[in-house]
Amino acid sequence: MADMFHLGWFLNFVTDDWDGRWGNGGKDMSGDFYVEMARDLERACFDYVLLEDKLMVSDAWAGTMQKDLQHGVNPKHDPVPLAVCMAQATTRLGVVPTMSTSFYPPFLLARLCATIDHIARGRFGWNIVTSAEDRSAQNFGLDKLYEHDERYAMANEYLELVKQLWESWDPDAVVRDRSTGTYADHTKVRTIDFEGTYYKSRGPLNTVRPPQGHPVLCQAGASPPGRAFASRFADTIVATSTTPARMKDFRDDIRTRMVENGRKPDDVKVLFLIAPFVADTVEEAQAKKLRSMSDPLAVELVLATMGSITEIDFSVFDLDAPLPPVTTNGERGFLEAFAKRAEGKTLRQAVIDDGLGGANDFVGTPETVADKMESYMDEIGGDGFLLTSPEKKLNRRYVTEITDGLVPELQRRGLTRTSYTHEQFRDNLLEF
Ligand SMILES: Cc1cc2nc3c(=O)[nH]c(=O)nc-3n(C[C@H](O)[C@H](O)[C@H](O)COP(=O)(O)O)c2cc1C
Repeated sequence: MADMFHLGWFLNFVTDDWDGRWGNGGKDMSGDFYVEMARDLERACFDYVLLEDKLMVSDAWAGTMQKDLQHGVNPKHDPVPLAVCMAQATTRLGVVPTMSTSFYPPFLLARLCATIDHIARGRFGWNIVTSAEDRSAQNFGLDKLYEHDERYAMANEYLELVKQLWESWDPDAVVRDRSTGTYADHTKVRTIDFEGTYYKSRGPLNTVRPPQGHPVLCQAGASPPGRAFASRFADTIVATSTTPARMKDFRDDIRTRMVENGRKPDDVKVLFLIAPFVADTVEEAQAKKLRSMSDPLAVELVLATMGSITEIDFSVFDLDAPLPPVTTNGERGFLEAFAKRAEGKTLRQAVIDDGLGGANDFVGTPETVADKMESYMDEIGGDGFLLTSPEKKLNRRYVTEITDGLVPELQRRGLTRTSYTHEQFRDNLLEF
């Protein structure tokens, strides 16, 4: 039997299911839907919710924003305030919004993370991305994004800097000593005087050290420099891969790199993206998948999203022929993995089979999907799954199928937690 494993959920702060039968019509972007969902995830004892983000409206598809907006890839709201609302509505769930090292000034980011870790009482995480699109860069005054590997060189330095800022306050710097009238001991707060190739900052942070020391660091680099970066800094890594053998290779590679970096392999939890279809019978679940994934609009939505993160115009490819060779300065590891999985298939079939790359052949009843998750974990060796909706348009029905259908089955088998042992996010993450 597999050991216990962790669960995370991956979502975007986009409109919820606005055109489907089970949504609320996408009437409101207040975030209430997602806050309610955060409570559901906590009831099902997920370790964390990861909030994706991008900083542009894409016109990669045929040079126009039409498909991006038609399919509701955008509007995409800022995930950071939503993470705060989710934290306020829960007591144990980790909240992990995405922020880009390419665009946030390090001091501001370090301060924001420290502040929210206090608001969330030690449950804040940061999904570190380097961003992937020239269109994003153009919203920040650049003509184009830095080259892929240089973005990671910059991110490495960025992390050294923000970690020093978080450590610029000793854990016991706040003394609250009434007898001397002293709130914080100035000898325990230091400047950092950081001067690197790309960044410079004096410090200290003008924010008390975060409850977790620094927020839980999450990363999804798939390319060699991405993996090198993640294994240096991350507490949790999220990855896409479709077979247990490939997932095992990825995790083994990360664990080897952890040792090379002088870290303990168990100090990082690698969660693999899956997008299950769950129903009362296997046949029903299979029919649901086919209906949902082969819908021409759904295929187009996947390709428009894929185009937006790679800045490749997928409108020019024949859906009924294999994908020709493609390269990107964007999400390179993602594109290479997709191209590999698409080998020997038409582009349409590759999209129907895999969607955006989360393994979505987890199709069946709660029991059969749990069987598969269990056997994958047995083969991979750990550490868990990052669940996401295969349809991208999220509704309460889907959330319930997972939190009140699939997860109780996992819990019955002793595979996922039925309670949280610790108050803080990292402590729960590292528990097993
Ligand atoms: C589950 C998952 C979530 C991701 N979330 C984001 C995100 O919110 N924003 C973003 O710009 N990139 C995101 N990425 C992309 C990664 O940061 C990274 O660019 C990608 O995995 C490709 O790796 P590479 O850049 O090392 O080639 C995500 C990737 C995965 C697998």
